[in-house]
Amino acid sequence: MTLKKQPKISVIGAGYVGLCTAVGFASKGYSVVACDVDEAKITKINSGIPTFYEPGLQEKLSESIQKGCLKGVVGRVDQVVEETDLTFVAVGTPSKPDGSIDLTYIESAACSIGKALTHKDSYHVTIIKSTVVPGTTQHVVQPELERESKKKCGVDFGLCMNPEFLRQGSAFQDTVNADRVVIGSFDKQSGDKLEDLYKDFYTGHVPPIIRTTLSTAELIKYASNAMLATKISFINTIANMCEKIPGADVKVVATAMGLDRRIGPLFLDAGLGYGGSCFPKDVKALIACSKAFGYEPELLESTEAVNKKQPLKAVDFCRQQLGSLEGKKVTILGLAFKPDTDDMREARVIPIINQLLKEGAQVFAYDPVAIPAAKSIFNTKIQYASSALECIKDADACIIVTEWDEFKKLTPDDFIANMKQPILIDGRRIYNPETYKTKLKYTAIGLGQEP
Ligand code: UGA
Repeated sequence: MTLKKQPKISVIGAGYVGLCTAVGFASKGYSVVACDVDEAKITKINSGIPTFYEPGLQEKLSESIQKGCLKGVVGRVDQVVEETDLTFVAVGTPSKPDGSIDLTYIESAACSIGKALTHKDSYHVTIIKSTVVPGTTQHVVQPELERESKKKCGVDFGLCMNPEFLRQGSAFQDTVNADRVVIGSFDKQSGDKLEDLYKDFYTGHVPPIIRTTLSTAELIKYASNAMLATKISFINTIANMCEKIPGADVKVVATAMGLDRRIGPLFLDAGLGYGGSCFPKDVKALIACSKAFGYEPELLESTEAVNKKQPLKAVDFCRQQLGSLEGKKVTILGLAFKPDTDDMREARVIPIINQLLKEGAQVFAYDPVAIPAAKSIFNTKIQYASSALECIKDADACIIVTEWDEFKKLTPDDFIANMKQPILIDGRRIYNPETYKTKLKYTAIGLGQEP
């Protein structure tokens, strides 16, 4: 790995997106500074340890630190702007209680960068990578940068909006192999600088680069996530319909639909709904933003409404099989919002467990990695097992909430031998109904009754 001289890159916010971006550039030999207010986070990064689990990241981070391509600094936005040519802003944009986004961290990053630009003679480009609603870069970031620096955007410094499309669990791979790069720019010069950087970064396999306005770039990110969320709520709607139609099976419907190239096979897995730190927040924010612009986004409201009800179907299935849930032992397999992560933000299991507890069930849960996260949410309200088999022991019903590979390996006999009564609710369609239906009381999302 040879250290490239130009351009030098800084990243403000060393969270998920920020760290993957910083390590992505550093791993290709760029000189990168990652800046965060959290001292503990920066200490870990400087010792080569990521603050979250992401396949492939640890190795590239420690290599980049050792080679001197990446360093973490606490605070000091003025220093990192001074030392570098381009600054990516990857700070959090949490939801406010009404669903709209909280821009506090964006505003404060813009204010610090603006102050730093006052002392800078060379042309510096600020790039917003955080997910922000249309209009934010132009109407919040640009004025803040100009006010604090007393300089002119497009003349003295540059400004771009460059959304990320990283998935948890493959975020590092998504950084180094993107489907597309979206560059919204205030002016041509700013966009050209960023385009040159990406063309160099992706040498040999440059993905399509979309050049556009700041607002369009901001909307592309939301539209992409809202489309994927809508695809999920759509297939869940078809799943719910299938359950009423004798002989229908949503899995077969989705497979056949997905073969139509206009539809595509991905994100058509019916289940208990979408969770995580992105889809729920982004759909809400896009609804709030659309309303603020004067358009009632009915389709997105339905996407959200379907997703809100979907997890509770697991509890309905339990009740249909067991009658009252009072005192019943209900086992949950899978707590994380999706497999291969310990993240439980907006995990669909949260409303399921809350409802089971409300109806008096005793809840036992197991997840290969998310138990510490679950403990911080449910504490002693539920019990935790150290394996799937221990969890289902003497259970009255078992619900598959997250499709971990480990659960796919369980056989009908495992359930029959361990449970008090083998009532299995397959919330993620991981088992073959042909095999399971004959051996136990098997109910699954999107599976109609026998004709
Ligand atoms: C999502 C997007 O996929 C990324 O492109 C985007 O960059 C990211 O949000 C973000 O905005 O930062 P992520 O939240 O990591 O990525 O997770 P996904 O793999 O998209 O899954 C989201 C949820 O949808 C999970 O709860 C998953 O179980 C659910 N899902 C996914 C389904 O229920 N069915 C499917 O067919 C696919």
